[in-house]
Amino acid sequence: MEETKKRVFSGIQPTGVFTLGNYSTVRHWPKLQDECDCIYSIVDQHAITVRQTPADLRRQTREMAALLIACGIDPARSILFIQSHVPAHAQLSWVLGCFCPFGDLTRMHQFKEKSAKHPEDINGGLLTYPILMAADILLYQTDEVPVGDDQRQHVELARDIAQRFNGVYGDVFTVPAPRISKTAARVMSLQEPTKKMSKSDANENAVVRMLDEPDVILRKFKRAVTDSEGTIRAATDKPGVTNLMSIYGVCTGKTFGQIEAEFAGQGYGVFKQAVAESVIDALRPVQEEYKRLLADKAYLDGVLKDGAARADAIAQRVLARVYKKVGFLQI
Ligand code: TYM
Repeated sequence: MEETKKRVFSGIQPTGVFTLGNYSTVRHWPKLQDECDCIYSIVDQHAITVRQTPADLRRQTREMAALLIACGIDPARSILFIQSHVPAHAQLSWVLGCFCPFGDLTRMHQFKEKSAKHPEDINGGLLTYPILMAADILLYQTDEVPVGDDQRQHVELARDIAQRFNGVYGDVFTVPAPRISKTAARVMSLQEPTKKMSKSDANENAVVRMLDEPDVILRKFKRAVTDSEGTIRAATDKPGVTNLMSIYGVCTGKTFGQIEAEFAGQGYGVFKQAVAESVIDALRPVQEEYKRLLADKAYLDGVLKDGAARADAIAQRVLARVYKKVGFLQI
């Protein structure tokens, strides 16, 4: 039976803070654990494309493991590991780089955005980032990649690379597909609702962090940018209200239709308060579990070590096949 399960792989960077946007995507990961064979990685190698403070990166990597488990990833049913603990990611990345045209890399939205944001450090890693991401995915013969909408282009590039490689050497890689939620696949900034809510936003009020205290969450929602119309309905010309409705939907499971009916005739003040409370209620159990887990370093490290060993066993087999296909002498 095991072999018929779909393989799912996804990753998250251990940098900055885990936002409500990340949560909107990551909350789907635990739901896949029974029906699929799931592998989740904390991608520390991706994180150093932007300069990091080493001690912070180390601390945040362990914190991310605690947060993912607190969100429901069960190490007994999924593999959870740190990317740099499995060397095959970097090794496969080199091979795949030789199957990816330069132009495909320079047209990536994330490359363009990050190079505009860090003009003083447009390094090679920032450009080749999607190749490492393709290696993450293809190394595990992944069928589906659950991500937010901002990662769609990267997953599509991984597909192109897999198809190009397969075109030369036969069916080596499973061609992966993005799995993007229909709702809240892109949680937007609370201050500029046409921009994605991002860990690195300089404006504190724009971003809800998973570990924000209830009073902070309430304040951020009260300050959220809306519009002057005063009705709670989803529309493209009402990005602020639509975003708040998506967030409320994430936390309560309600549809836009249900939300519109619930708040018919009410003002933004009441609505914002309700959204904030739904977020506080959804995050509370995760925050409590996170704090409990973080106090148990030995447990977390044990999970990550075991996860790396299990991931490595799969990765080695695929890498060996690729090395053979491209003609590396095996002695
Ligand atoms: P990262 O670390 O930026 O984000 C982790 C996941 O959260 C999603 N996400 C959002 N979803 C909805 N609304 C938002 N505002 C929002 N912001 C972030 C992201 O889409 C992502 O799914 N390159 C990836 C990490 C990665 C990866 C991989 C993912 C590396 N290798 C292989 C999948 C497969 C990234 O930087 O995600």
